[in-house]
Amino acid sequence: MPKKFIVGNWKMHGSIESVDALLSGLSLMGADAGSVAVCPPFVFIPAAISALKGTGVSVGSQNVSAYDQGAYTGEISAGMLSQLGCKYAIIGHSERREQWLESDQQLAAKFVSAQAKGLTPILCLGESIEQREAGGALAFVERQLRSVVDIVGIESLSLAVIAYEPVWAIGTGKTASPDQAQEMHAHIRSVLAELSDEVAEKVQILYGGSVNAANAAELFSRQDIDGALVGGASLKVDDFASIIAAAKAV
Ligand code: 13P
Repeated sequence: MPKKFIVGNWKMHGSIESVDALLSGLSLMGADAGSVAVCPPFVFIPAAISALKGTGVSVGSQNVSAYDQGAYTGEISAGMLSQLGCKYAIIGHSERREQWLESDQQLAAKFVSAQAKGLTPILCLGESIEQREAGGALAFVERQLRSVVDIVGIESLSLAVIAYEPVWAIGTGKTASPDQAQEMHAHIRSVLAELSDEVAEKVQILYGGSVNAANAAELFSRQDIDGALVGGASLKVDDFASIIAAAKAV
């Protein structure tokens, strides 16, 4: 497994034309297998899988249903994504927790559903600015983590990725300092280590929140920062390529 893992979360951005251009750029970039993934909006996933075949860049989804199939209007199942060739599913992004009120229980069900169909969940955790300023960031993120781990079981975390994304750093241009991120990542790993040293050592913990070409290298130099979940900068091939290069250089 490559040491660092960089994931681009395109969120709800793009048109047929812009996605075409982005995918052409990405397909020329070249990446070591298992080191890079992109998560386009659902409708662009087939185009991404076809354009990125054989490039080393994997494709994931930004969300996944907790249900297998049935009368669930508007939902997309893990089986459907897996059949298309998706490898990952982002689960519990703060935008979904906040705006779609997804609960830890729902996220755990999505996590189980994704893994059952061979998708690797990228489980997002992160505190708000109020929680950080009140000194409760570590405890809050620990609670988010434990609520899911209690349901899915520690062993299943060995086939998952964790992304620490402080809500106050997302799309704000205000990155957590490498020290703040390292402190949280080490805490996440220590919580997992209470349950399984092996899982704690193996799981990749990505940082997300205003990662860009200028701040990536310093973040990646920290021991427990295993890569990044990149929003805005993943929409620009050059910026995304610089972040990938910074990860490779560590
Ligand atoms: P930005 O990199 O745009 O801050 O977004 C981070 C994020 O939410 C990735 O999932």
